[in-house]
Amino acid sequence: MAEATAKADIGIYGMGTMGSALALNMADNGFDVAIANRKPEVLNEVVEEGMGLKGALIPCPDLPDFVASLHSPRVILFMVPSGAPMDQMLGAIASLLDEGDTVIDGGNANFNDSRRRSAEMTEQGLHFVGMGVSGGEAGARHGPSIMVGGTPHSWTQLKPIVQAIAAKFEGDPCVDHLGPDGAGHFVKTVHNGIEYADMQMIAEIVGLMRDGLGMAPAEVGGVFADWDTGALKSYLVEITAKVLGYDDPKTGAPMVDSILDRAGQKGTGRWTVIEAIRMGQSATMIEAAVAGRAWSAEKETREVGEDILGGTRGALELDVDTLEQAFLAARVLDYAQGFRILQAASDEFDWSLDMARIAEIWRAGCIIRSALLDDIAAAFRSELPAGQLIFAPQFVTVLQDTVPALRKVVAACVQEGYAVPALASGLGWYDTMRQGRGTAYVLQAQRDFFGHHGFERVDEDGAHHGPWWA
Ligand code: 6PG
Repeated sequence: MAEATAKADIGIYGMGTMGSALALNMADNGFDVAIANRKPEVLNEVVEEGMGLKGALIPCPDLPDFVASLHSPRVILFMVPSGAPMDQMLGAIASLLDEGDTVIDGGNANFNDSRRRSAEMTEQGLHFVGMGVSGGEAGARHGPSIMVGGTPHSWTQLKPIVQAIAAKFEGDPCVDHLGPDGAGHFVKTVHNGIEYADMQMIAEIVGLMRDGLGMAPAEVGGVFADWDTGALKSYLVEITAKVLGYDDPKTGAPMVDSILDRAGQKGTGRWTVIEAIRMGQSATMIEAAVAGRAWSAEKETREVGEDILGGTRGALELDVDTLEQAFLAARVLDYAQGFRILQAASDEFDWSLDMARIAEIWRAGCIIRSALLDDIAAAFRSELPAGQLIFAPQFVTVLQDTVPALRKVVAACVQEGYAVPALASGLGWYDTMRQGRGTAYVLQAQRDFFGHHGFERVDEDGAHHGPWWA
């Protein structure tokens, strides 16, 4: 193993899929990268893979060697499992570092942990960055979208490296410093929440085409490939078209039919929902997507349910153009709900998040990249009535054109018994936002009746009680 010298621009600890891909990306862009791993045996493989790249990959067998190999002030990126392993690494490395050094957590961390870690590192004269990285392995290797939260000092250190390795949208690097401590990880969490809802909607629509319209997987894949050339153009539509086209080498039948209908989740979608609710907000489509995954896990219960309750459903009188329009409406509503959560957190934590910039750095590299994000960025750059994306003139028009299709799809599904929780909940939110006077006056009357909670009147300030208390 090569002797480490103090020449590296950055150190990466954790040579799993994402860590090694980021190291190779940085070396590709001419940076010298010190690499370390809990099991140092894997380091030589990464070095070999990086042979011939512009920058050097410097394997470091232990932490002191790793730290000694870096220029000061140091920049160290940890790509280790979030939670306890990250705390252990911070504990192990802090005493080896000097004032002004920056330590980065590049995993999908809970932003509350990032805020705590940031405070702990600040007490030791160190800088902590919570950095969201999206784009999977290919993105990490060839250009991810990167969401940075931390101090301006750390951003100055990091900027040249992350701007070089990030995906580019028409030349603009898909990375920015979004705010302090937990801001980067919060934005990444909401990104994943939006991703959950988009994936759920796609799954619902694929199900409708297959089970309600009788289309074969490859045929559905063809429709998605077609949608990927229009307003729905996006990474998730593109890969859905691809996966639907594969056959299982084992059975010869469509690959998707060999995959168990039980989806896992690591937590970011759930965290989005938890934080939204904690802030008195609600992103119903993300909630529906998290629920969709939880219900998917109840495979045995659903099998019993099909026997007891009966799984019969009628055919759907829908065409693919209607589904396309419905999907576009729902996708706008999903992004709009996600940005509401970001705004609520920005207000609560005083982050001054730049919504237009967030939309811009999601335009390439990340999993939710889509044609819509450029329009969303433009909408946030202009005056938004009540700060709501769905009130931006261009989206008012899109929704006026597409919501009728969403209604038609949801109505047909309700009528014939197809579960479309994400699509239906988006519509419920949209219809709620169209009513200046809703129905919560009933709740207030009930609360006052049973608990003397009081209510506000439409015509007078203050707390009031109903005549039922007279
Ligand atoms: C990304 C992805 C990535 C990962 C999520 C998926 O932006 O690159 O979102 O972070 O795929 O961890 O999360 P679940 O395992 O919870 O679906």
